[in-house]
Amino acid sequence: MSPYIQLVSRACPLSPDYVPSDLTEPDIPFRASPGDPKRLLRAQAACAAEELFRRAHRMQIDLYGISGYRSYDRQAEICRETQSAYVAPPGCSEHQTGLALDVSCPDLNFELEESFASTKEGKFLENYGPMYGFIIRYPKGKEKITGYAWEPWHIRYVTKTLALYLSLINLTLDEYHQL
Ligand code: DAL
Ligand code: ZN
Repeated sequence: MSPYIQLVSRACPLSPDYVPSDLTEPDIPFRASPGDPKRLLRAQAACAAEELFRRAHRMQIDLYGISGYRSYDRQAEICRETQSAYVAPPGCSEHQTGLALDVSCPDLNFELEESFASTKEGKFLENYGPMYGFIIRYPKGKEKITGYAWEPWHIRYVTKTLALYLSLINLTLDEYHQL
């Protein structure tokens, strides 16, 4: 199966030693300092993110990358620090795949919060993300299916074909894997 459409969830975890082989830094604005692994994505997702962010820039949409790749150990650390419905257990986070990116904007002071959905940046991500291969992975109303709270800021690269398909028929990646 293509790694880009792989389901990573509590039921389908990654092994602790899994590290994507082609992590690279997309040329997009990030809040994290240069050299921080948060700025990394897998090569194909990085290219797609660059195209998405270029489109946003042309439309005066102020997107910033907050968090991309996270290692198993980093996820374990976050879990120890934060007990929250927003945090996946180590091995179960899409951030370990290098295909997920948390995004925010200056109007929200770069925070990751639900109100992001009603900003022009949040609306742009929902409407334009699929054309570049990204889905909102944890949508509102699908919490019982995804196992996570609504995260309008977390996008996941799944290829353009699959992202368009899922967004058109309002299906999560979890549901797609049950078809
Ligand atoms: N916030 C998502 C679920 C993660 O921790 O991967
Ligand atoms: Zn995320």
